[in-house]
Amino acid sequence: MQPNLLKRVPHPFAYQGSKRKLASTILSYFPPRTHCLYEPFCGSAALSLAALYHRRCSRVVLNDLFAPLMALWTEIRDAPERVADAYAERWLAQIPAPREHYLQVRESFNQRKEGADLLFLLSRCVKASVRFNHQGQFNQAADHRRLGVRPPTLRQHLVAAAQLLTDRSVIRAGDFAAALAEASSEDLVYLDPPYQGTSQTRDHRYIAGLNRHHLESCIADLMKRGVPLIVSFDGRCGEKTFGPDLAAELGLIKLTLHAGKSSQSTLVGRHDETFESLYLSPQLTHHGKGDLQAERSASQQREGASPEVPS
Ligand SMILES: C[S@@+](CC[C@H](N)C(=O)[O-])C[C@H]1O[C@@H](n2cnc3c(N)ncnc32)[C@H](O)[C@@H]1O
Repeated sequence: MQPNLLKRVPHPFAYQGSKRKLASTILSYFPPRTHCLYEPFCGSAALSLAALYHRRCSRVVLNDLFAPLMALWTEIRDAPERVADAYAERWLAQIPAPREHYLQVRESFNQRKEGADLLFLLSRCVKASVRFNHQGQFNQAADHRRLGVRPPTLRQHLVAAAQLLTDRSVIRAGDFAAALAEASSEDLVYLDPPYQGTSQTRDHRYIAGLNRHHLESCIADLMKRGVPLIVSFDGRCGEKTFGPDLAAELGLIKLTLHAGKSSQSTLVGRHDETFESLYLSPQLTHHGKGDLQAERSASQQREGASPEVPS
């Protein structure tokens, strides 16, 4: 394997809803020692890669319902050079006729579910967002303004991600709740479910909708077991809010994080700011001080984070 020359957190692919930009803010709420970080809605695993890179946890459990994505993560961890070669092949082959080539790779992915095809599609598709038709076929269009990340750059990200994940990760596919059975009070669970604004509509932005009651009862169970947890759950963009809060009875502390300008609004000429809600289990607001007020002022000073602590 090549030496890792990347001097930052690797991110092998963009992914709609990625927490890459918010990762350092979210990491700042981690307890001083975390054994295993569970990321059961992992997508691009932005938080897990950041946590391993900054040594904020010893191990990670990555899970997502989208099985081909988790097969890709396994290949990235176990054979990053092979994945990089396969991506380079697809990237170069697009040069004479990018539009036709994208459609061929999409067709090939829908038939064979190969990881390198998915990686190429993620690098080329509109808003890095996976969308499916009613038959479960990937049907997102290509973004024709770009050809996707260049192979040598992607190779560096793949190799660096593999170095972080080797011997420190369990990778699985399935429903989030099943991935959390062994989480304990020494661990931390980060939940980043699909947005309510998109998961309950005809807009198939994610592979499946999510039952809110299922999510809340899983959170209640983790709270009962004393497992520290952080949940990203919707928020608002401009005037538009995406659905109701998590149930107050869960006893989580809600913060509002400023996530920057909405790229979707910018595309249509608006300049809406987006805000994401972050819910913390109470032990994470103490940081060993046992003082919510101290945490409240500290988080107010963090860039863009303004806590809304329920009374
Ligand atoms: C908002 S995205 C997560 C983004 C991720 N945090 C990142 O940084 O890229 C939500 C993910 O949840 C997955 N998902 C949807 N329903 C699920 C379920 N029931 N169990 C596990 N994963 C699910 C989707 O496939 C999608 O990848």
